[in-house]
Parts: sequence; C-alpha cells; structure tokens
Amino acid sequence: MDRFMNVLPYRIHLSRKSSVTDTAPKELIAENVIRERVTELAAKISEDYADSGELVLVGVLKGAFIFLADLSRELTIPRSIEFIAVSSYGTGSKSGAVRLVLDVRGDIAGRHVLIVEDIVDTGHTLKYLIGMLKSHKPASVRTCTLLHKAEQAEVEVDIDYIGFSIGDEWVVGYGLDYAEQNRTLPYIGCVKPTD
Ligand code: IMP
Ligand code: MG
Repeated sequence: MDRFMNVLPYRIHLSRKSSVTDTAPKELIAENVIRERVTELAAKISEDYADSGELVLVGVLKGAFIFLADLSRELTIPRSIEFIAVSSYGTGSKSGAVRLVLDVRGDIAGRHVLIVEDIVDTGHTLKYLIGMLKSHKPASVRTCTLLHKAEQAEVEVDIDYIGFSIGDEWVVGYGLDYAEQNRTLPYIGCVKPTD
C-alpha cells in the first residue's frame, strides 16, 4: 500500500460549481447522446480498419480536441495521434481563407490516416486538409467529423464518418467555440453569432 501513497489524489476542498449557468447556450445535443454516437463511430472505424495496421488519427485543432480524445480511447485498433491546426475563421463566425498553422510532426507516408474534425460547414477546410495530407503520400486518407452542416456545403468533399447532421446554426461546446467561448461545455448547444 505504502508504495502507492505518492499517487493518491491530492484532496481539494472546493465547492463544486457547475460550469453550466443560467446564460448557458441552449442544448442541441445532450452529453449522453454524444457519448453514444462517439461509441458507435469508434466501433465502425475499428471494424473498417481491423486489418489495416496502425491508424493515424489527425485531429484538427482546436475544435476537435475533445472529440478526438473520446473517439481515440474507444477504438479497439492500434492507433497513434497527430494534430494539425488551421485558421479558417477569425475570432467570430465569419469565414476567411484556410491557412495551415501547424503541420503533422510524424511521418505519415505509407500510413492510413483519418482526419478528425469537429464540424464541416462549407467544406473548404476539410478539402484543403485532404489535399495537404495527401501530399505527404499516406496509404489512404479518410475523414471523420462529429458534426455536418449539410445544407451549407460550398465545395464537394468526401466525409466517411459523420456523427450528426445539423442545420444552419452556430454551435458551441464539446470542443467547439464562438470567439473562444464555451469550448468546454459538456454538451453541444447553439448560440446566436453577433457578427
Ligand atoms: P468550413 O471550412 O466552412 O467547413 O469550416 C470548418 C471550420 O469552421 C470548423 O472546423 C470549425 O472550426 C468552424 N466552424 C464552422 N461552423 C461552426 C460552428 O457552428 N461552431 C463552431 N465552429 C464552427
Ligand atoms: Mg475545426
């Protein structure tokens, strides 16, 4: 017992305040519904890649960080994690040019790659990322997004795994933000952008 003493959690005596307040965004997809869908997606991906060796999950920062964390832990296949970051919007909800701000660090040549996105809106970001990652000569590139605004598509892009299709509304929570707010909300809610 003694040798485990140094890993006991430090006792923090704070009152537990909920992160969800009266002004919290209206719920669109509940926490347990997200959890169930992530489990289903992970099962399907594990099945599809069962005989493919290690899958490289490429999470798109920042929005996909929570989805990637949950999805990757539910997979039953060998996997490794990479991150890329793009800036496609300013601080609010207005669209801009897609720009790579962080590339993958590992060598993905000859490996199976799955891009993990939070949301596909116009499709410009995902299309750019597929092209960019293909230039690294991977064995394959597929795409997975938690959310899809199907009616908003401006460019055609293949999405292999979709969590939920949603309408034209700005969503926050579970990694997604509006002007960097509400990323850590446990559910997905909607807000009204002011720009
Ligand atoms: P697209 O290039 O128009 O498909 O935009 C994709 C990116 O825009 C996503 O990866 C998000 O970072 C961001 N985005 C689009 N819609 C929303 C939303 O409703 N909430 C939060 N981020 C969004
Ligand atoms: Mg994103």
